[in-house]
Amino acid sequence: MSKPAVFVSREIPQSGLDLLRRHCDVSVWPHDRPATRDELIANCKGKDALVCLLTDKVDAEVLAAAPSLKIVANVAVGFDNLDVAAGTAARVVMSNTPGVLDDTTADLAFALLMATARRLVEGDRLVRSGGWRGWGIMQLLGRDVHHAKLGIVGFGRIGRGLARRARGFDMSVSYHDAIRAPADVERELGVTFVPFDQLLRESDFVSLHVPLMPETHHLIDAAALRTMKKSAVLINTSRGPVIDEAALVEALRTGVIAGAGLDVYEHEPKIADGLAALPNAVLLPHIGSASIATRNKMAEIAAENVIAFFQGKMPPTALNPDVFKASRA
Ligand code: DGY
Repeated sequence: MSKPAVFVSREIPQSGLDLLRRHCDVSVWPHDRPATRDELIANCKGKDALVCLLTDKVDAEVLAAAPSLKIVANVAVGFDNLDVAAGTAARVVMSNTPGVLDDTTADLAFALLMATARRLVEGDRLVRSGGWRGWGIMQLLGRDVHHAKLGIVGFGRIGRGLARRARGFDMSVSYHDAIRAPADVERELGVTFVPFDQLLRESDFVSLHVPLMPETHHLIDAAALRTMKKSAVLINTSRGPVIDEAALVEALRTGVIAGAGLDVYEHEPKIADGLAALPNAVLLPHIGSASIATRNKMAEIAAENVIAFFQGKMPPTALNPDVFKASRA
């Protein structure tokens, strides 16, 4: 029997590719850039499965142009790049990689919070520039993280991971989420549920951990930024469009808030005009889950979903499991 044909839309960690190659005929996009939409479609034609990244938009048009696809496995936990409803309508299973990147992303969020509060990047630049004139009592004064108030927006696995880390710094942690966490989780993590506006008003640090959905698009807009303290720092490791980036640039420029640590952007890889020039912003290139071990696991989970599907088993992290169940009925 011939092996299922899989297109992998970008080089992914070897452990995932090795797994796939044991069970499937695999072709990998050979270039060090994402495929364009037309290239993605062309390469999916005749394939049984697509392993894709968050830079690939997979919607009804792609699925209609490549009707042989049976499963689309995203190598990311966020799946705003997949139209799952279109997948369900086309009877294509879609999957993501939950659970394996929470700690890695929470680590990065806390690192970004520290870096922004204590002006690490500015300090690094100063030393490298040769312009440092020695210790100065007024030099690069930042903001204390310990005992500060942290507000976490979105209290899923990554938000909770950040709360755990904050405890080690004696921070006082509140959170907001559409769904309140169970009382035992709140007790264990020592966190308080508050309304969104209150969180914005009271927090020294606001960290975003919501998925991108119509309800969270521009959740942090000019009005939300004005609600925050002038001394507050905003951290985003979720998805760029959760923040109105132009409004954020203006707020950072005019002192509406004190700083921002960003790992994600509204129109990646472009960043808003004026953002790069702001010394009170720390800017990372979407590396929240970028540890070697975590990226290996993400690739392996995507591969396991594809392999399970073709072995007639439920893909372990299917987003639309009913499509698989219906295909077996
Ligand atoms: C995800 O998985 O959604 C991250 O943003 C990329 O690792």
